[in-house]
Amino acid sequence: MAIALIPGSFDPVTNGHLDIMERTARYFDEVIVAVIRNPQKSEALFTLEEREDMIRDVTTHLPNVRVDFFKGLLVDFARKNGVGAIVKGLRAVSDFDYELQMAQMNVALSGIDTLFIPTAPQHSFLSSSLVREVARFGGDVTGMVPSQVAQRLKERFAK
Ligand code: PNS
Repeated sequence: MAIALIPGSFDPVTNGHLDIMERTARYFDEVIVAVIRNPQKSEALFTLEEREDMIRDVTTHLPNVRVDFFKGLLVDFARKNGVGAIVKGLRAVSDFDYELQMAQMNVALSGIDTLFIPTAPQHSFLSSSLVREVARFGGDVTGMVPSQVAQRLKERFAK
């Protein structure tokens, strides 16, 4: 059985992430979307449970996708779960340097390759951090995140 792993912070999941999940689900028997427990970034907007919840909510149409979390090294989680390949979306050349370095480190540590899927052009400007910033200041994020996520952002910043 071919298992793919899509890791990330998903704070929150965007339509760009969802597109990569849908496309990966076509090529693999099982897809694990793994949310990092402690993003190394500044304070997360959503808790781990909220981030996992939103991903579950927006992937109900993808029966071979399951959501999990990990802490520590990604490759340790990958090995424990019998993962055949890590899958990442690539938005632009600016993503490439760091992604290449991580892919090479991960294959050196574990032998597990990373496959890159080009982000759909309509999502190439999207990032969770920009979505958070736009939503924080009351901007319209319709079309950038699934409607359930837009609602959660609205509620979060209404406080
Ligand atoms: O959505 P993000 O924040 O860009 O995801 C980054 C993530 C979680 C994929 C990356 O930081 C990661 O893999 N962290 C786990 C720690 C690890 O394995 N580090 C070595 C990577 S070469």
